[in-house]
Amino acid sequence: MKYETQKIAYAYFLVALILFAVQVTMGLLLAWVYIYPNTLSEILPFNILRMLHTNSLVVWLLTGFFGAAYFLIPEEAEREIHSPTLAHVQLAILVLGTAGVVLTYTFNLFEGNWLLGKEGREFLEQPKWVKAGIVVAALIFLYNVTMTVLKGRKTAITNILLLGLWGLALLFLFAFYNPSNLSLDKQYWWYVIHLWVEGVWELIMASILAYLMLKLTGVDREVVEKWLYIIAATALFSGILGTGHHYYWIGTPGYWQWIGSIFSSLEVIPFFAMMSFAFIMVWKGRRDHPNKAALLWSLGCATLAFFGAGVWGFMHTLHGVNYYSHGTQITAAHGHLAFYGAYVCLNLAMFTYAMPILKGRDPYNQVLNMASFWLMSGGVVFMTFVLTFAGAIQTHLQRVMGEFYMDVQDGLWLFYAMRFGAGIAVVLGACLYIYAVLVPRREIIEPAGTPAE
Ligand code: HEM
Ligand code: HEM
Ligand SMILES: [Fe+2]
Repeated sequence: MKYETQKIAYAYFLVALILFAVQVTMGLLLAWVYIYPNTLSEILPFNILRMLHTNSLVVWLLTGFFGAAYFLIPEEAEREIHSPTLAHVQLAILVLGTAGVVLTYTFNLFEGNWLLGKEGREFLEQPKWVKAGIVVAALIFLYNVTMTVLKGRKTAITNILLLGLWGLALLFLFAFYNPSNLSLDKQYWWYVIHLWVEGVWELIMASILAYLMLKLTGVDREVVEKWLYIIAATALFSGILGTGHHYYWIGTPGYWQWIGSIFSSLEVIPFFAMMSFAFIMVWKGRRDHPNKAALLWSLGCATLAFFGAGVWGFMHTLHGVNYYSHGTQITAAHGHLAFYGAYVCLNLAMFTYAMPILKGRDPYNQVLNMASFWLMSGGVVFMTFVLTFAGAIQTHLQRVMGEFYMDVQDGLWLFYAMRFGAGIAVVLGACLYIYAVLVPRREIIEPAGTPAE
């Protein structure tokens, strides 16, 4: 570790890993409820479990991004983080808010209270006081990292990362705006969700991947930077108007069908570019970096993101197709592989790279960590296939043949049983990963500098 304040990342990564464990456990429970629908229905109904699953996902991914920024910015900017104290205050606010959400939703506290009670749209379900806390935490974070970068060296990686992080925080403000007109409400909801995962988060993804490629493959910075700018430009060019693929059936004007179809099809380009970038860097790279597991996660990230977001996204993005597939298990198949490939693997790649350095060890337990990659990714890919088949049958029976929703669901139980099986693999893979990065202790390297840098 070159800079003392990179240590801040460690606490962020730990919190992220705990919430990751919560997220996949909730996923497994949800999958069980799909097979035995009355399980826990009085104590923890499906909608609450689902909210815990998707929100813990968003929160741990964000926590991971914050940690990654605190880890890589000192090295890129060549100076310490502006204020380590503020960074810890920020984490404390996020943890408090998370605990607040879990308690409020699980026990339905303060029902109807505008400040303390539950509110918000899918993925953004937090009481208002928590939303306000998130904004305060985001402001602290932006102030802290921006000051660091402004006083230090500016690189393409920090520029694109900051652009992504500022965009992320500003777009979150739309979570406060919940108009009563349902069409408008949905329209603004996608300003957050779509413009996050298919806009500014892509910038964060590209810059973190670029950083990892720089470290792991040893290619020239100029080459990495050129790719980074191309990816960022194509992501924003396609992603912003690509929001239209969510405006087909919510009451917005008909021209969105064309705008959405055309621009969201172009969204495949940045994901393809990211995959090409990662592989070309590895082929060109001269460095034989000891952290093979971090390289595996990085390549896995770029590849699975291309399939999950690019291929599975394109599959249902043309309005003629989406007319039939909208809101079926096809959507869930895409949602899982896209989130997993792009943002779960990205975070796990960064943790895999950073943890040994943060702990002052050689990259250790490569085998366990790589095994967890194959187990977890195998589970998610299998789940994606199963849900895709279920979705195709559901689309046909329900949307083409006009059968009733619940009758069709009854017929799909075998797929849901297989999804549960895939979920077990994912949970085991997650446990193995957490064990591999945190627990085993091998020889401590001396002196302090690691060959990893
Ligand atoms: C990493 C990037 C991406 C992530 C994390 C992601 C995730 C998701 C999720 C979770 C949903 C479901 C939202 C809901 O609750 O209704 C969704 C919907 C959708 N996504 Fe993506 N997505 C990504 C990229 C893409 C791309 C590149 C395309 C197109 C090429 C795409 C096309 C769609 C479409 C058309 C829908 C609407 C499905 C429906 O009508 O039910 N996505 N996405
Ligand atoms: C143990 C593994 C997992 C299982 C069994 C599982 C299962 C489920 C289930 C049953 C739902 C509810 C679907 C519905 O409302 O009909 C769901 C939603 C969701 N899960 Fe998972 N999940 C798992 C892991 C993950 C992971 C690793 C991610 C992130 C990559 C993820 C992201 C999501 C998202 C984004 C949604 C909302 C999807 C949508 O609206 O279409 N899940 N999951
Ligand atoms: Fe989208």
